[in-house]
Amino acid sequence: MDMIRLNEVVKIYHRGDQELQILRGVSLSVSEGDFVAIVGPSGSGKSTLMNMIGLLDVPTSGTYTLDGVDTQGLSDNKMAALRNEKIGFIFQQFNLLPKLTALENVELPMIYSGLSKSARRERAMAMLEKLGMAERSHHKPSELSGGQQQRVAISRALATKPALILADEPTGALDSRTGQEVLELIMQLNEQGNTIVLITHDNHIAEHAKRIVSIRDGEIVSDIVNATQRAKEAVRA
Ligand SMILES: Nc1ncnc2c1ncn2[C@@H]1O[C@H](COP(=O)(O)OP(=O)(O)O)[C@@H](O)[C@H]1O
Ligand SMILES: [Mg+2]
Repeated sequence: MDMIRLNEVVKIYHRGDQELQILRGVSLSVSEGDFVAIVGPSGSGKSTLMNMIGLLDVPTSGTYTLDGVDTQGLSDNKMAALRNEKIGFIFQQFNLLPKLTALENVELPMIYSGLSKSARRERAMAMLEKLGMAERSHHKPSELSGGQQQRVAISRALATKPALILADEPTGALDSRTGQEVLELIMQLNEQGNTIVLITHDNHIAEHAKRIVSIRDGEIVSDIVNATQRAKEAVRA
């Protein structure tokens, strides 16, 4: 089954009386359980594409089906509800709320889930534990290292058990060793069945994915199976 199906997605921005075509007809399908990197230089349209996939913005034309749901014409409220239900976000700058503890940050996206407060707390704690952050659960983000903050952010992304995990330059603010650890965590999440789309300008980071989609000037210019990662997967199976 396709988790993501983008068909001829165009995004146009206006600057003064200029019309800027940022995405020029992007068609992309991602299967459930896959790990896809979208790679391209700065300004190629990666964040714009991520905003479409993440239901943070809508295409000027073209269609997007997420986990079987046609997103065209949805109200802002429906879109927000779908986003909250289906997608876990991991950002470069972690985007944790500074006044909340790690635990409270992880609980936050579950508020709309219908879970009771105690169930939310229990799930948040379990996610922090999974990411090796249980002992830091009562710390504020400012009391944590970058790598620890990203682990909290990953716990938060997982807390709603999303169908899709969307990571935009998740290692961009980390030193290379910590970045490597975070990449390995993301690979583990994929092994556990999570569908992952990773956005990066860095080819070395993209190499961790099972499929690499390259974007230039708002267009997909190549889409390859990453034989190395597939082979590793076959060995493990
Ligand atoms: N809201 C906007 N209005 C006008 N231009 C924009 C807007 N958002 C992005 N752009 C332009 O679109 C292009 C692609 O941006 P972006 O998707 O952020 O690229 P990337 O994430 O690959 O660096 C850039 O040239 C950027 O200046
Ligand atoms: Mg960007």
